[in-house]
Amino acid sequence: MMPQKKFMLPTLITTADGSHSLYVKDLDEHYHSIHGAIQEAQHVFIKTGIQHLVSQNYTTINILEIGFGTGLNTLLSYLEAEKLNVKLNYTSLEAFPLSAEIINQLNYVELISQIEKTSELNLKEMFQSIHKSEWENKIELSKNFNVLKIKNTLQEIKFTSTFDLIFFDAFGPRVQPEMWTEENFTKIFDSTNQNGCLVTYCAKGEVKRTLKKVGFILETLPGPPRKREMVRGTKQF
Ligand SMILES: C[S@@+](CC[C@H](N)C(=O)[O-])C[C@H]1O[C@@H](n2cnc3c(N)ncnc32)[C@H](O)[C@@H]1O
Repeated sequence: MMPQKKFMLPTLITTADGSHSLYVKDLDEHYHSIHGAIQEAQHVFIKTGIQHLVSQNYTTINILEIGFGTGLNTLLSYLEAEKLNVKLNYTSLEAFPLSAEIINQLNYVELISQIEKTSELNLKEMFQSIHKSEWENKIELSKNFNVLKIKNTLQEIKFTSTFDLIFFDAFGPRVQPEMWTEENFTKIFDSTNQNGCLVTYCAKGEVKRTLKKVGFILETLPGPPRKREMVRGTKQF
């Protein structure tokens, strides 16, 4: 059974790097770091996640994202797949999809096309394709990138495949402790391939202890701007 949605109608805010994020009043929580949404995503998920595995000679990476949200991580991952010429099979879980009205206001395409010096039109098409891709249907968006969006909760889902890289991008443990439980991390660990990693922006002691307990070997790494630390867990027998 889907849990009751505790948060409604997020409002658009602008973070320190000029990129948008969303504020959820009911939780008093943001979708991204207020110190820079794009910078955080680039650092935690692209650099410390994808680039780390590519540096270990991965040419195909099965990614699982917990919390699809605005699709920012998905869009940046698509770009990284093209830049590094690696194949990304991207699965993203989301319990409470955002409305098209909110998605259409986000300035990610405009800003990322400037940063990456890439065509805004192509990126816009890709962002729209990502959002319009049907739930529960794997869609090939380019030679290097396919996406499977799953509408379900982390608590309910039973994973039917395994992953090399997990983007753990839930709301923080202060506001959604039910996401950061031993049970959820065990389920993720069991679906992680040997040498696979979980990356998360959260470096709270309690979270690190739980990740360690379920079997991940932890590294506490420098965080994105104005955040001291982040965490990467690796599965090694
Ligand atoms: C921090 S935001 C994710 C940000 C996102 N990765 C992005 O790039 O915009 C957390 C997301 O988790 C989703 N969520 C909340 N509870 C959930 C649950 N029980 N299972 C799966 N997703 C959940 C929220 O709706 C929200 O989209």
